[in-house]
Formats: sequence, structure tokens, C-alpha cells
Amino acid sequence: MSCLPCFQSKKTNEPPEDLPVARPLNAPSPPPHFENNNYKPPCENANKVDLASPVENGDSNAKTFTFRELASATKNFRQECLIGEGGFGRVFKGTLQGGEVVAVKQLDRTGTQGNKEFQVEVFMLTLLNHPNLVSLIGYCADGDQRILVYEYMPMGCLADHLIDIKEDQKPLDWQNRMKIASGAAQGLEYLHDKANPPIIYRDLRTTNILLDQDFNPRLSDYGLAKLAGGGNTSHISPRVMGTYGYCAPEYERSGELSFKSDVYSFGVVLLELITGRRAVDTTRPAEEQNLVAWAQPIFRNPKRFREIADPLLKNKFP
Ligand SMILES: Nc1ncnc2c1ncn2[C@@H]1O[C@H](COP(=O)(O)OP(=O)(O)O)[C@@H](O)[C@H]1O
Ligand SMILES: [Mg+2]
Repeated sequence: MSCLPCFQSKKTNEPPEDLPVARPLNAPSPPPHFENNNYKPPCENANKVDLASPVENGDSNAKTFTFRELASATKNFRQECLIGEGGFGRVFKGTLQGGEVVAVKQLDRTGTQGNKEFQVEVFMLTLLNHPNLVSLIGYCADGDQRILVYEYMPMGCLADHLIDIKEDQKPLDWQNRMKIASGAAQGLEYLHDKANPPIIYRDLRTTNILLDQDFNPRLSDYGLAKLAGGGNTSHISPRVMGTYGYCAPEYERSGELSFKSDVYSFGVVLLELITGRRAVDTTRPAEEQNLVAWAQPIFRNPKRFREIADPLLKNKFP
């Protein structure tokens, strides 16, 4: 494996705050603000997945788009093209000039982290490549616009298929639930163990697991992910981010983030897959509102395991 030229040329523990956002992705560039003082260049750990090649070979697949192109792809960001709205802004379905259907995420410019998250997400997704990670097709940084263009995932997110499903919708069967869990775990494993430097995802939840037509899952949203380099990487201590109900208790308490906090979030998603319940559901009785707290006593008694299964599974599971 070879080294990232961009990682060598700068002091990585003091990344510049004022990175130009519209830098071509195939040009050597400093990494965005990783908030990790222990960061080490990937070339120091040579047996990991080669994240360097897209940048080093100058063949990054990420394209730059003009605002005009994306406005035309989304019919001027019209309401009818809106497919969702999350913490960072709105997501539109668009059709590029060549006919390719894409998801266009227009980041909220009033958000405090818009610019920084944008740079992190663009840079990371350009380097990462795994069948269980959503692909970044390109981005637009015209003026103050911050827009990411992703492959379109036709089945939307896992939450749409698991919770509050419509009457005419077929519930996910056990096999697909386990396939989704396994794929999400492989995506997470890639981020933790194969990506070099390793990445703590920080925002694993059912709305960030997107599905293709065959229910193959892909993790999306790396805006919250931070790189954690080799050496002393047992934890990094950024501000607490993530979603209530999915955060490991020790992370919520102290803000001390570790790879284990992603594993905790994965456990919550797995519980949601098995139970069909939300991580937090304030419409339920008080003792059932927090999924983990509700399920914990049942875990202690194997005879009660079947109680937690989603009724929509109709007892069809091994
Ligand atoms: N690449 C994509 N393809 C299809 N739908 C997407 C894509 N990205 C996001 N979405 C949809 O848009 C919604 C909002 O996404 P996002 O802005 O990431 O917010 P959140 O992760 O908080 O749900 C998602 O729940 C999903 O249904
Ligand atoms: Mg998301």
C-alpha cells in the first residue's frame, strides 16, 4: 500500500480552519478538520485498506457539480422532489443530465457545522469504498452552497421499512432483517478495522442505513465521523454528537468516544430489527419508552426471548 501525499505535506494535528471547499477532489489536499491530536498518517500502518489510491492516482470518482446543474436535476429543488429532511438539511431526488438518478443533499447553511461537516464528508467518502457504504457521486460548492450528490437508494432508509410501516407495505422478514444487520456490521467493520486511519462512525441509526432494491444496506452520513489514527486511539473527546437512544451511556455522560460506542449503537439497531420498536418511543408507556431499558430484563431470562420479537414477524424466525 502506498501513502497519502496530502497527509504527508501538512501538520495533521493542526488542520487549517479555512480549507477552500471547492478544491478539486483529485488534487492533493490536506485532510479536513479531524479533531484528533493522535492522528497519524495512514502510511505508518501499511497492512490496511488502501484509502490513498483515489487521491494519489488522481482518479477520484467524485465529480463537481454546478448549482445550476443540481437545480435542474431537482426541478429547482421543488417540494415534489424532496425525499427527506435530516439534521444537516434536505435531501432531494434528482435526475442528472445523462439520466442518472441521484440523491441531492443540500446542507443547511445556517447550521453551525455545515461547512466543516461538508469537507469531512466529501473527503472521507471520496476515499472510502465498500459495498455497505453509500457512494458519493460528487458535490457542489458554488458560492455558499454545500451540496452532496449520492447514489440514489431506491428503498430509502431502514426506518421506513421497520417502524410505522403502512398497511399496504410488506413487513421485513427475518432473513432480510439479518441481512441488513450483517451488511451494516460489515460497513462498520470496514470503517473500524479496514479503513486506515480507522473511523468512528458516531451516527449509526435506522435512518442512516439506506437500502437497495434487494435490501442490501449501505451506511450513509459520514459528516459526524471522525478519523482516529494509530497509537493511542482508545478514545477521542470531541463534543457529544449523535442521536438520543443510540448513544452509549459512557459517551453520553462524558463525551468520550470510542469504537465501542459505535458497537453500542449497532446493538440498538439490532434490537430495533428484532423488535420493530424505535430506540426511543415517547408514545409508549413510560417503562417501554427506552428500547434498551425495556429489553434488558428480558435478556436475563432466555425463556422470555421470544417476547421481544416484532409481532409483524408472526413468529417466523428460527
Ligand atoms: N442516498 C439516498 N437515497 C435515497 N434516500 C435518501 C438518501 N439519503 C438520504 N435519503 C433519505 O432522506 C432522509 C433524510 O436523510 P438525512 O438528511 O441523512 O437525515 P437523517 O439521517 O437524519 O434521516 C433519509 O431518512 C432517507 O430516507
Ligand atoms: Mg442520514
